[in-house]
Amino acid sequence: MIGRLNHVAIAVPDLAAASAQYRDALGAKVGEPQAEPDHGVTVVFVELPNTKIEFLEPLGEGSPIQGFLDKSPLGGIHHLCYEVDDIIVARDHLVKEGARVLGSGEPKIGAHGKPVLFLHPKDFNGTLIELEQA
Ligand code: CO
Repeated sequence: MIGRLNHVAIAVPDLAAASAQYRDALGAKVGEPQAEPDHGVTVVFVELPNTKIEFLEPLGEGSPIQGFLDKSPLGGIHHLCYEVDDIIVARDHLVKEGARVLGSGEPKIGAHGKPVLFLHPKDFNGTLIELEQA
């Protein structure tokens, strides 16, 4: 069922600094910042040969990643995103297996314009998991 690792998301306190570091020190292909007001974040994607890195910076009041940065002020790995062929089939299977889906349980449109869901980190080794329909 599980497919490619679509991206690793890293919460950062300073999106411009993180982007400059990956561009200048690591020589990575770094995209432009995208504001996602519905999700309370500004996102930058870094293209790697085999996957992507997603930088997340809080946007506006009550950003869902503010609490994470309060606990980890330097930033840190926030979630992993795995691709699935059919997000509804994947969700129904995971719920049957005992996993909890965050929010309403219905897919939302993510930063790539594709349906995504998040699974509770307590059910996945302390790691927040995003599923994206590829
Ligand atoms: Co993500």
